[in-house]
Formats: sequence, C-alpha cells, structure tokens
Amino acid sequence: MSDNRKQPGAPAANPLWGGRFAEGPAAIMEEINASVAFDQRLAQQDIAGSKAHAAMLVAQGILTAEDGEAIAGGLDQIAAEITSGAFHFDPALEDVHMNIEARLRELIGEAAGRLHTARSRNDQVATDMRLWVRETIDAVDDELKALQTALLDQAEAAAATILPGFTHLQPAQPVTFGHHLMAYVEMLGRDRGRFADTRRRLNESPLGAAALAGTSFDIDRQATAEALGFDRPAANSMDAVSDRDFCLEFLAAASILAVHLSRLAEELVLWTSPAFDLVALPDSLTTGSSIMPQKRNPDAAELVRGKAGRVIGDLTGMLTMLKGLPMTYGKDMQEDKEPVFDAADTLMLIIPATTAMIAGMTVNAEAMRALTAQGFLTATDLADWLVRELDMPFRDAHHVTGAIVKLAETKGCDLGDLALEDLQQIEPRLTDEVYDALDIDRAVAGRTSEGGTAPKNVKASVKAARKRFL
Ligand code: ARG
Repeated sequence: MSDNRKQPGAPAANPLWGGRFAEGPAAIMEEINASVAFDQRLAQQDIAGSKAHAAMLVAQGILTAEDGEAIAGGLDQIAAEITSGAFHFDPALEDVHMNIEARLRELIGEAAGRLHTARSRNDQVATDMRLWVRETIDAVDDELKALQTALLDQAEAAAATILPGFTHLQPAQPVTFGHHLMAYVEMLGRDRGRFADTRRRLNESPLGAAALAGTSFDIDRQATAEALGFDRPAANSMDAVSDRDFCLEFLAAASILAVHLSRLAEELVLWTSPAFDLVALPDSLTTGSSIMPQKRNPDAAELVRGKAGRVIGDLTGMLTMLKGLPMTYGKDMQEDKEPVFDAADTLMLIIPATTAMIAGMTVNAEAMRALTAQGFLTATDLADWLVRELDMPFRDAHHVTGAIVKLAETKGCDLGDLALEDLQQIEPRLTDEVYDALDIDRAVAGRTSEGGTAPKNVKASVKAARKRFL
C-alpha cells in the first residue's frame, strides 16, 4: 500500500495491475499503451466471453453461485450501457477488458475481482477477436450472397447479349455479357469459400489457455467453448494466446476479394466511359464535376477499385507485425485489431456499393453489338472452319486466316464483307459456306463446350449457380 502511495504530481498506479508499481504510467506510456479507442468494438464479445467463463467457474465450484449471479447481472447491465451509449470508456484503463472489469467492480463490488480467476487478458482477447472475426465473416458472407444475386439477375437478362470479349484489352472473340458477369459469380463463390475455410479453422476456443500455460484450477474448457459456439477448445495453450493466423487468413481472403471487386469496378469505369458506353449507372451512384457540367463520374466504382489498396495494406501490416515474434503473447499483437477492423469496415462498404451498381446498371445492348463490328472477332471461327472443312492443321489455318485479316484491314471492312473471289485468292478451297462461320451470332451460339459462352450455356449456368450459391 505504502509503495503505491501517490506522490504529489505523479499519476496513480493502475488499480487493476498496479500492485508492484510505485508510480503510474507517464502520459506517453498511457498513450502508446491504450487500445480502448479501438478495441471497444470488442465489448459485446468480451462480455459474452466473461459470462461463459463465470458460468463455468460456478459450475466447477470455483465461484459461488451468488458471485456468479452478481457477475452475470453486472455484465448484462454493462452490455446495455454500451448499447445505449451511456458507457464511458476511459483510456487510463487501457483496454476494453479493463474498462469493463472496472465498471463491474463499481456495480457489484468485490465479486468483480473473482471473474479473472483462471483467466488472463491473453486468452480473453484472443477469444474476443475470434468471436468478432467469426461474426464479421457471417456478415460478409451475407453481403457476398447479395452481390452474387445481383450479378445472377443481370447475367440472366443478358444471357444472349453479345459484346466483344477481350484479352490484353484487345478485341478477341465475341462473348455474351451474361457469361462475362457469371465469371464474377464464380470468383465471389471462391471468395466465400475462403472466408468459410477461415471460419472453420478459427472456430476453436482459446479461453482457459490463461496467460500462456493453462491453469491449475479445475476448469472446463469444453463448456466455455460450447457456450460460445466454438467447435472445441484450442489444443495448445501457448498457440491459443499467441497466434493471429486467423486474422491473417481473414485479411488474405479480404484482400483477394477486394482485388476481385477492384477488377469489376475497373470494368464498370471502362464500360460507363462514353468512349465505350456499354453500361450506364443510375444518377444516384455517380457524381458530377464542379467545373465540367457534362460529367458523370463513376466515383463509387473508382473507390471500390482504390480501396483494395488499403485492404492489401491491412494484410501486409499484420504479416509484418507478426513476423519474428517470439512465443507467446507480445504487446505488438495489440496491433492486430485496427487492420482487421479497417478491412472489415472497408468490405462492408465496397461489397454493398458494388451490389448497388450491378443491380442498378442499365446494359446498352446496341452499343455492345456495335462494338463487335470491330476487331475481326470471328477470325478464330474462320481458322476453325479451315481445320474442320479442309482438314488443315490449325497452325496453317491460323496463317491463312491472318492473311485474310490483313486483306480485310487493307480494304477497311470486316471479314464477312470480303468477296468470295478475294477469299479464294488466299485459299482457293474456300466456299460460300464460310460466311456462316463469320457470323457473330452463330459464333457465340456455337460455343457450347462446358463452361463456354453460348446463351444456352449461360442460362443453364445461372440456374445451376442459384442452386450452388444462394
Ligand atoms: N489490449 C491487449 C491486446 O489487445 C489485451 C491483452 C493484454 N495482455 C497483456 N499481457 N498485457 O492485446
């Protein structure tokens, strides 16, 4: 007690761990140490964890039923105070865990001090984070399902809408817009799979690992794991308090998803540019320019594209923070929270923004069709015809077709506009029938190989995807 006496001007030692300290922390110590400004987002998970822990301590005869009731009642009241905004988080109390415990002591007195029996902030915070990431994954999954639904609806409507497909952003072969959109449905399906894998692996309870070594109290880790919806207790106490690989997995899945969304966003930027004019976004999802009255800028799409950068930064930051940390817990790991929160907040912005754009976009089918007149999109079909009808090796057919393309380019016309005599100058065995192969609609309708772009395939894959994903 005398050691802990406050000197004039010196701050008081921390009431929760200050027993061996003669003076309190310097202002800068408090400032660098405090996490409550951001980890207060874990408050409800922290309370759920504490309630499960207290109930288990009572069931094991480590706490009296009376103390257990007081603790549960106090924690419920704190949960309500936090929800209503009445709770005051104090940075001097460092983090969310100590803020809640200090308030519990105000509310129920000495019994509050018994809650921390057989527990440490190390297993407590690891538990809170797992619960938080688990809930977030479920929310992200709902958003991704909504985005897939919007894509599926548009894909179904555009199952037979033809536009050029690109490689190297050069016109390649005609495809259906429905098929193009369905590509994103697949990507998002894998994204959901990555989050689901993360969720499955993270769903083990650290609670009861205590500081790092477990505890000599006769606790029941199975019971707390079950109460919190975990599949099982984490097998190794040192691993349980020290790894944040579940955060890394979450951020990796988030980064890959953000990269997918940035590609779709970039396409929206291209499609809505008057230079392409393939798609229009509603006024409500675009912005004007303060100087150029004619402009309609796809800011939401650009921000979806740009925000991938910060999510990737969150992953990179967390990897770097964890790298080389010796076992077990180090305060560095307090830095796990902001990147996870930032990535989660970003996803909860960019997924619904993308959904709104996809659901709200209008497809300009005429402009898409008009674009197919450029770029000799059926050149591959011509080469395939030569292979099929004249039994030409594909390499030779490719060469012959190249010469025909060159001719069309010189004449400034499309392949189908060349006269048969002109074609026969290059390959005498060409007949009238080749014009069918040069027809855009036939070219698309013919691509019925599994996973191909034919309208028939797109309709079937939309149907199948609704079953697989929704
Ligand atoms: N605020 C801390 C964190 O987020 C809680 C765990 C503190 N543990 C400790 N041994 N000081 O990591």
